[in-house]
Amino acid sequence: MVQRLIVAGNWKMHGDRAMVDAYARELAACVEGSDHAGVGVWLFPPAPYLLSLANALAEAGAKEVSVGVQNVHEAASGAFTGEMSAAMAADCGAQLVLVGHSERRTLFGESDELVAAKARAVIDAGLTPVICVGESLDERRGGEAMARVRAQLEPVLASLAAGEVERSVIAYEPVWAIGTGETATPEIAQEMHAGISEHLLARKISARPPILYGGSVKASNAEQLFAQPDIDGALVGGASLAVTDFAGIIAAAQLKQNRA
Ligand code: 13P
Repeated sequence: MVQRLIVAGNWKMHGDRAMVDAYARELAACVEGSDHAGVGVWLFPPAPYLLSLANALAEAGAKEVSVGVQNVHEAASGAFTGEMSAAMAADCGAQLVLVGHSERRTLFGESDELVAAKARAVIDAGLTPVICVGESLDERRGGEAMARVRAQLEPVLASLAAGEVERSVIAYEPVWAIGTGETATPEIAQEMHAGISEHLLARKISARPPILYGGSVKASNAEQLFAQPDIDGALVGGASLAVTDFAGIIAAAQLKQNRA
């Protein structure tokens, strides 16, 4: 069962073995004893560190922190050198998979259809996909932000049943806000999240999945973002690499949780 409020850290291609152990110990100390029940804390390390991070978290007593991978291949197995399947990620402790991150789309040419095929493969392996969508700066300036996000969602909605979408997670990450220090204002993020919600409802997704915001989320702006009714947490890049910053974002989610 996926929590309603989630703080997820995407390490991208950062970190090493020494960081994994220290991070797990520090994070366990931060979340232990804090009232974070109901807030999902998820980490997406580089795949080689998945198992050691899962073990280090368990050893440090942070059993409730879940781990996942940043990408999988859409096939179950085969001659795809350098790739990994969702089932392999599951075998190594992953419960979650990022699908269609904007860096996968722009740097590695993933199409909306490929992203949908990957979401399908993740569901088939019994894992939870975090399906990432978001518009570019040109699309936003051209007034096409919502249309672009709807177009990204369409093949996913065609490939997953309503119940499968309900068990997934959506991450709205405007490309212009990723790693730029420029965060969408809470109002812009809320408008987009509400638009995504409406689109899902119109497509008969009655229990909408959690929708996370991503793009330069920091401890200093998380509380304002989380105050918006349709923002169900964050997908955090840079600020997830240091435990103190990440813990500040988790604390902001706890505030929202405690007010609910
Ligand atoms: P930043 O938080 O570094 O902007 O990255 C966001 C992101 O891409 C998370 O997946």
